[in-house]
Amino acid sequence: KILILDFGSQVAQLIARRVREQQVYCELHSFDVSEDFIRQFNPRGIILSGGPNSVYAGEEWQAPDIVFRLGVPVLGICYGMQTMATQLGGKVESGATREFGYAAVRVRGHSKLFRDIQDRTNAEGHGLLEVWMSHGDKVTELPPGFMVMGSNESTPIAAMADEVRGFYGVQFHPEVTHTLKGREMFARFVHDICGCARDWTMPNYVDEAVAKIRAQVGQEEVILGLSGGVDSSVAAALIHRAIGDQLTCVFVDNGLLRLNEAQQVMETFSRHLGVKVIHVDAAAQFMGCLKGITGPEQKRKIIGREFVEVFQAESQKLPNAKWLAQGTIYPDVVESAGAKTKKAHTIKSHHNVGGLPETLRLKLLEPLRELFKDEVRELGIALGLPHEMVYRHPFPGPGLGVRILGEVKQEFADLLRRADAIFIDELRAAGWYEKTSQAFVVFLPVHSVGVMGDGRTYEYVVALRAVETSDFMTATWAELPHDLLGRISNRIINEVRGINRVVYDISGKPPATIEWE
Ligand code: XMP
Repeated sequence: KILILDFGSQVAQLIARRVREQQVYCELHSFDVSEDFIRQFNPRGIILSGGPNSVYAGEEWQAPDIVFRLGVPVLGICYGMQTMATQLGGKVESGATREFGYAAVRVRGHSKLFRDIQDRTNAEGHGLLEVWMSHGDKVTELPPGFMVMGSNESTPIAAMADEVRGFYGVQFHPEVTHTLKGREMFARFVHDICGCARDWTMPNYVDEAVAKIRAQVGQEEVILGLSGGVDSSVAAALIHRAIGDQLTCVFVDNGLLRLNEAQQVMETFSRHLGVKVIHVDAAAQFMGCLKGITGPEQKRKIIGREFVEVFQAESQKLPNAKWLAQGTIYPDVVESAGAKTKKAHTIKSHHNVGGLPETLRLKLLEPLRELFKDEVRELGIALGLPHEMVYRHPFPGPGLGVRILGEVKQEFADLLRRADAIFIDELRAAGWYEKTSQAFVVFLPVHSVGVMGDGRTYEYVVALRAVETSDFMTATWAELPHDLLGRISNRIINEVRGINRVVYDISGKPPATIEWE
């Protein structure tokens, strides 16, 4: 396995993705982990990420010395290369200009990392690599034992290697797709240089995970809050595979789910997979608590609180349950670890992660903690979950509660559900569901005037929202074809009595957010 030390790069998770794509297990940790941790991790190779700092920021931003004494190959990327250079006796200087964007790097020498990897040759027949650069500082003097393995005009030492020790540094970013041969470079590093086998595969993972869950849980019982979302669904399927009826799922219908969602979840899990699922219809309770409440954060709080209450009541009916299973995935883990150091404003009090109180006195079972989202999906398919469920757009915990602006009413929820189902239906039929990252309808509790037949109407307005994004931190609105938008609008207005106007949201994030509340 590979250890990735994160120096605060925006794209450190991408490095991990690239390594896992090579079917090699890796973990991402902050660069300042202890030497003991690194020794115990026992990596076959180490990757040092980029980061926003300069090596002049001082020793506190250096890699632990042991990284270079373990006797395993090390790959430094951008800042990772710079700190490698300074720590091993080379020099780094601030460039007068920042280099940012596409660049061609000429391959030099005969490094193992770049051997037979090139995009094209220049007029003199030298191999060239198309790469993505983003740096101010650069290495200006090689540490002893190193040679140059790539250069261009603005960065004479764009890549360096000490073949004897297996140390490599690249000033560019092989983890982003703009670096065309990035994948090949990671393959070369983890397989040929570090000697990692391709053993991180889904079938292997299922076997291992099942064995681990059995060992962990023994004969005890497990309870899991099933939401119908990808993570909790896959966690449920995996745990069920491991321990069968020792698992009980609780599915809470808060009245804010999408059309037929509860039936679908029960169908898939209870009927299809034979998982024990308790279906709690708590719609009336949630609606009651939301009466008169208009503030988004207040609504979130209430929905979260009621969920905990309902779940707790159900779990008390299962006195033998000793474990609480959750669908926590790797990005959640990395994020909450990073959250301590990175300051962020609370725009919305998201994720109900950790929402369940400690008073449940249950041990935590989190079998997806090591997986990225696309691995979770792959696992879901391997476990026999329907494609539609596994590749579903994300749906917020508070559900339609934050898609009905202002006060939530039963009538609004019913109208919204039907409009939303039509929107999603048409998107799927047109092949646009997969092309968008998230799409939904928002209910606006305002009346607008319309005309239908010979009569005047005075009914509600809905907004369509469809965005493309890779991380949900920023997003662009999807340029849906006009004829598709027209079809959707027609159908909603014709089929959903009570809505006479449909608008399309053309705001990006930022400055808007994806949800309207
Ligand atoms: P925003 O609206 O902040 O949404 O751009 C980013 C992503 O987060 C989802 N979201 C939530 N998820 N509880 C959740 O579990 C929430 O309260 C919540 N609010 C927003 C949103 O659907 C989008 O995917």
